[in-house]
Amino acid sequence: MTDPGFGVYVHWPFCAAKCPYCDFNSHVRHQAVDQERFAAAFARELATMRGRTGPRRVTSIFLGGGTPSLMKPETVGAVLDAVAANWTVADDAEVTLEANPSSVEASRFRGYRAAGVNRVSLGVQALNDADLKLLGRLHNVEEALVAIRLARETFPRMSFDLIYARPGQRPDPWAAELEAAIGHAVDHLSLYQLTIEEGTPFHVLHAAGKLVPPGPELAAELYALTQQVTAARGLPAYEISNHARPGAESRHNLTYWRYGEYVGVGPGAHGRFVEGGRRTVTIAEKMPETWLNLVEARGHGVTGGETLTRDEETDEFLLMGLRLTEGIDLARYEELAGRPFSTPRLTTLQDEGLVEQVGNSRLRATPTGMIVLDAVVADLAR
Ligand SMILES: C[S@@+](CC[C@H](N)C(=O)[O-])C[C@H]1O[C@@H](n2cnc3c(N)ncnc32)[C@H](O)[C@@H]1O
Ligand code: SF4
Repeated sequence: MTDPGFGVYVHWPFCAAKCPYCDFNSHVRHQAVDQERFAAAFARELATMRGRTGPRRVTSIFLGGGTPSLMKPETVGAVLDAVAANWTVADDAEVTLEANPSSVEASRFRGYRAAGVNRVSLGVQALNDADLKLLGRLHNVEEALVAIRLARETFPRMSFDLIYARPGQRPDPWAAELEAAIGHAVDHLSLYQLTIEEGTPFHVLHAAGKLVPPGPELAAELYALTQQVTAARGLPAYEISNHARPGAESRHNLTYWRYGEYVGVGPGAHGRFVEGGRRTVTIAEKMPETWLNLVEARGHGVTGGETLTRDEETDEFLLMGLRLTEGIDLARYEELAGRPFSTPRLTTLQDEGLVEQVGNSRLRATPTGMIVLDAVVADLAR
């Protein structure tokens, strides 16, 4: 059984502007953010989490957001030092920082590298200016390409994100854009279909009929095309939206999907780790200033969460694991569930060609099953 690892997620909750499709916990502040105060609060919350997890070997650290490339290198350095002060960080730990092309500077990138970041994930989103504008992004294609080049020069590993199934997007131009993206990529790409999230300006426009994303059939065609083009170019999907050359997968994200443990710190961060023999979920206060005050008053900003029952744990394991091309390990399922994997729907799903068994040890969604994965998981869950 592959060791799913132990990760640390750190959430930086600020952005230069809010993108109209985004419902992540990100906030725009017009006064300077007190980064020293945040760094001290991250260190304090990490120490509290260490008290709960006990000693562990950290296999990955992920600075996500928001826009972590708005953090000063000193802030990033202080956070990474705090992680190392609380747990043993593996020599080959993956340390990723999410960066926006509009906030990339060479000196800052060198500072992150010196602080210990060894992988960058860039939010490129589109490689045509009209769509970058439509998505409300602050950068253009030229700036994205400069950021990609700089990331490649500075860090041993890098990836970038694109959003597709955009309003008005047709298969041929998307295939061409994807080919161009692969030409700029190293060995990892995240390709997300646009989702219209409630509470966002895109949702309002969509409801008013002023923004029309591709319907299910065209979206499925764009998805299939994405799988085909990336596989042909040596970057097959290892998860619904993530593509890599074998061996270049994001270890941190694999920890989530393989249902490993992770600690989450920062505003709105989630964590999931075993405490007292059961998996515990932690959910932190989302509003940055409220989170800061909570951490300063009592050492953590956790305001929600629960201990999962065995059935809840098993369902989460399925939900995460079936996103992966490798699928789930049936022995691990049995260990978590305390019983063999059997559900009346399994045979039907197999007959319908939506899931398949790989040897005796694994179960995975077929390419068709991946398109309707939510429904497949709902059928397999208890
Ligand atoms: C939390 S964002 C962080 C990256 C960085 N802030 C940026 O946007 O450049 C992670 C990724 O989620 C994707 N994303 C965010 N909202 C989305 C949506 N509504 N539909 C599809 N993908 C989305 C984008 O590709 C984005 O790069
Ligand atoms: S930059 Fe990223 S996190 Fe910030 S609002 Fe845009 S998509 Fe969301």
